[in-house]
Amino acid sequence: MQNQLLENKTALITGAGRGIGKAIALAFAQAGADVILVSRTATELQKVADEIAGFGRQAWPRTFDLSQLDDIAGFYAQITAQTGPVDILVNVAGVIHRAASLDFPADKWQQALNVNLSAPFRLCQCFARDRVAAQKPGKIINITSLLAEAGRASIPAYAASKSGLKILTQTLAVEWAQYHINVNAIGPGYIETELTEPLVNNEPFTSWVLSKTPMQRWGTPGDLTGAALFLASAQADFITGQTIYVDGGWLAQI
Ligand SMILES: NC(=O)c1ccc[n+]([C@@H]2O[C@H](COP(=O)([O-])OP(=O)(O)OC[C@H]3O[C@@H](n4cnc5c(N)ncnc54)[C@H](OP(=O)(O)O)[C@@H]3O)[C@@H](O)[C@H]2O)c1
Repeated sequence: MQNQLLENKTALITGAGRGIGKAIALAFAQAGADVILVSRTATELQKVADEIAGFGRQAWPRTFDLSQLDDIAGFYAQITAQTGPVDILVNVAGVIHRAASLDFPADKWQQALNVNLSAPFRLCQCFARDRVAAQKPGKIINITSLLAEAGRASIPAYAASKSGLKILTQTLAVEWAQYHINVNAIGPGYIETELTEPLVNNEPFTSWVLSKTPMQRWGTPGDLTGAALFLASAQADFITGQTIYVDGGWLAQI
């Protein structure tokens, strides 16, 4: 056991089948949490659940397509009926589509907005309604991006959704502080995962990433777990509305 920072807590983590979501799920379980794992791919979720069982914690793998916005409330109610209340919500699932803005497909725009922004909002609502009704505190962590701070060509929907998620984080933090629900975000720099695999393998792109990153490397999913554990824990009880950038120094440099 690493530590028991999250003992007796239940966390729901979207995008938990691989990449950043998987790393956070494993870190939370090692810190004593039971974890609800959500994505569309059952085989990936089951592997993560098996690893979590190895730490002596409970995992509930649940497949769900977060673009089905109108089904989210029912899905949340169904899961929590089985697992009991959720103490920590981590919105990690995200999609990106790259295309010139002049020709950006309308369906890809809508998909990114649905999965990256509207689904996290719906889940935040479900989570907060339960917490408020039970008069219990809660922690929400939203995964944003450097694209919440500055633009880049050919990812208009992704940038719009992530910057929207940053301000949504601040808005909910202000509104829900009265209920002791902390709402924070983590903004990863460039992290090696399946999402970024084509970029990692593109030599000019990797050279550009290294030139912009004072730490001179791509991040790993494990680099995000410290910030996630901290924001999910009682150590962060007086922190809300913040984004912690885990970016190797990217945003610190002009
Ligand atoms: N990697 C980076 O450099 C980087 C940088 C900044 C921000 N981020 C953000 O960090 C988050 C995770 O990124 P990652 O690199 O770990 O990505 P990834 O490896 O592609 O994983 C994305 C996860 O989201 C799930 N997902 C995607 N669409 C979904 C949907 N419609 N319904 C349910 N689950 C869905 C995927 O599972 P299924 O496909 O099985 O559903 C997968 O588990 C994203 O929000 C991303 O924008 C990443």
